[in-house]
Amino acid sequence: MSELNKIAIKILSNGKGILAADESTATMTKRLQKVNVESNEKNRLLFREILFSASEMRNCIGGVILYDETIRQKTSSNKTIPELINSNNSLIGIKVDTGAKVLAGSENETITEGLDGLRERLKDYYALGARFTKWRGVYLISDKYPSKLSISTNAHALARYAALVQEAEMVPIIEPEVLMDGNHTANDCLKNTSEIIKKCFEELELNKVDLKGIILKPNMILPGNNSSEKISNEEIAELTLRCLRDSVPSEVPGVAFLSGGQTEVEATANLNQINLQNNTNFIMTYSYGRALQQEALKFWSKDTNNIVGTQETFNHRAKMCSLAAQGKWSENFDKSK
Ligand code: 13P
Repeated sequence: MSELNKIAIKILSNGKGILAADESTATMTKRLQKVNVESNEKNRLLFREILFSASEMRNCIGGVILYDETIRQKTSSNKTIPELINSNNSLIGIKVDTGAKVLAGSENETITEGLDGLRERLKDYYALGARFTKWRGVYLISDKYPSKLSISTNAHALARYAALVQEAEMVPIIEPEVLMDGNHTANDCLKNTSEIIKKCFEELELNKVDLKGIILKPNMILPGNNSSEKISNEEIAELTLRCLRDSVPSEVPGVAFLSGGQTEVEATANLNQINLQNNTNFIMTYSYGRALQQEALKFWSKDTNNIVGTQETFNHRAKMCSLAAQGKWSENFDKSK
């Protein structure tokens, strides 16, 4: 087993998943403003430190993805944030792309940037304790999109990023996110997501990326959020598994889904169902941002001194996700909360 494969397996196995706490300052500011908390360095640190010190971190979170600001911060007890996370037997991840920018040639779409100087930045992050990384390509579905240009340029960038990350001895998360926005059907989502993922693997192989040492972070196959189509958890699981079976090479150790705007319970129920129906060899788990943090953030915003209550809220959600990653979740566990 290669070192990179060992890292990927450690992050994803035993009912664990990833906490995506890598919101850029701009995104975190939006999230905090929505709950009437001022966005400053101290508050961003405070909320994140509360989560990273919660007791279920040890059982449910195999890795945490950080943003550049956070990986350099110190906790109230003078530990670094990476030390705090490592003390819970969880690994440090870091977002290394510099964001999705307008794609020349198709102005309603984006290309994710951040390759310039990446080799040097990766050395810095490794020294700060990072052992895995994230890069997110973003795709739209409509009658015109995604364009061939967006599919091909984003796959190229993801693959060049992944090759550099493995050279720096870290595990790259490959995140091609097909947005839920729009009125497309689940079948449109299936067709486009499959094409996008296949193109990513074509480029990853061209760039000689070791597929045993990556983690794929895809969207689930869902109808658009403005679509009138309603489908069951079983159908979502069936379409998502079909997509991954057909487009992901079998060497890939695991898949960690993004939540992408699903509610906490939807993201949990769908992951649970995917595990119940899983007919692939891939580990299927979570790499959730909003679906792990939203409830805790709402709770905390009402009384920022209530650390215990905020941690209980986070612990509950993390436990539900961990059960879902093992196909052991039931709606009743969430109702009885
Ligand atoms: P969500 O789970 O909120 O979609 O965030 C995951 C993520 O890391 C997006 O890049």
